[in-house]
Amino acid sequence: MAGSSFGTIFKVTTFGESHGIGLGAVLDGCPAGLSINEEIIQQYLNLRKPGQTKYSTPRKEQDKIRILSGVFEGKTTGTPILLLAENETQRSQDYSEIASYYRPGHADYTFDEKYGFRDYRGGGRSSGRETLGRVAAGAVAIEFLKTLGIEICAYTKSIGAISCQKNDYISNLSEDNRETETVLFDKISQEGLEKLKADKLASPLFMPDAEASLLAEDALAASMENKDSMGGIIECVVSGMPAGIGEPVFNKLDATLAKAMLSIGAVKGFELGAGFAVAESKGSENNDAFVPVNGEIRKATNHAGGILGGMSDGSDIIFRTAIKPTPSIFSEQSTVNKNGDAISVEIKGRHDPIIVPRAVVVVEAMTALTIADALLVNMHSKLNGIQEFYRK
Ligand SMILES: Cc1cc2nc3c(=O)[nH]c(=O)nc-3n(C[C@H](O)[C@H](O)[C@H](O)COP(=O)(O)O)c2cc1C
Repeated sequence: MAGSSFGTIFKVTTFGESHGIGLGAVLDGCPAGLSINEEIIQQYLNLRKPGQTKYSTPRKEQDKIRILSGVFEGKTTGTPILLLAENETQRSQDYSEIASYYRPGHADYTFDEKYGFRDYRGGGRSSGRETLGRVAAGAVAIEFLKTLGIEICAYTKSIGAISCQKNDYISNLSEDNRETETVLFDKISQEGLEKLKADKLASPLFMPDAEASLLAEDALAASMENKDSMGGIIECVVSGMPAGIGEPVFNKLDATLAKAMLSIGAVKGFELGAGFAVAESKGSENNDAFVPVNGEIRKATNHAGGILGGMSDGSDIIFRTAIKPTPSIFSEQSTVNKNGDAISVEIKGRHDPIIVPRAVVVVEAMTALTIADALLVNMHSKLNGIQEFYRK
């Protein structure tokens, strides 16, 4: 499939289907010398693993990752890294009915129209399981970025109409509620970042607001009772970004991030910084004032979300993605079969009653792959930088 690779230098190709032998990724272009092993990658995969809470698909998979190449004695060698996890609990018979009809909201119809036939077992390539390879490769990117002081944290911002209220760590990055002229809100503090991560991990929904998380759990229980599904919003913060990363004009950092996010199944919206609210704002409100701070150029606010002109501006990058409710629901629905007849269906199989919590680490992984690639592409932007590199 021509669309299975992402990135220019730090380039990932994912492979595999939901009920095939296995899934994974080939990651090429990772610099040599990065410390990585299966245990580190597994930690990230475990955040995406199915069957962990009652709010995810009951399909139990270990998603045990193996590194088949590109790492020697615990370090990357600069050669392609092949990451593979085998499928263990396929129950393809549960999906045999799906072969004959088109699930509303899923990719069955469009796959058939494009290719003439499809691997219907568990959704084949259009399954959420495809994101396993993204998270495995993204884990390598996250570890690479850490060595440069760049950290990524995504979390559930809302589920249905229930939103995190306690957002003292970063709300100021996107909302102009400065208390004093001297306090800047363009970067999250290290303390704020640690607290955000801890509060997120304390919630089974990765929602860093205990009260909102409980309300969302109740709403989800009711939705599951009704054989229905829910959606929500994931917010992501990238801290420690240097300024000037991103390639005008077609490979602007915000454009590439939007592509990375919208390539994840079920992601239907992307907004950076103040996002769609800019439409109702005035220039005088939306502009972020530059402020000199100890020789550093900072911004008083961050409506721009850390990107100006398609390049990082040195503030934290902050963006949100909207995730639709899981399309495969168990209640009765109208659709058509492959002969074009109107039918009524009750979908079988194992499905996530909500995708949002499992997609949080996928958003982090795709962000890391985007930023890692943009940093490497940026290496050639200045002549003096190239001269310095090659000078003996
Ligand atoms: C982590 C993750 C898990 C998913 N789990 C399911 C699922 O259990 N059932 C389902 O019907 N869709 C699931 N999806 C969504 C489908 O993959 C997606 O809706 C489908 O491919 C159609 O693509 P589109 O929604 O982007 O148009 C999941 C997506 C992700 C990212």
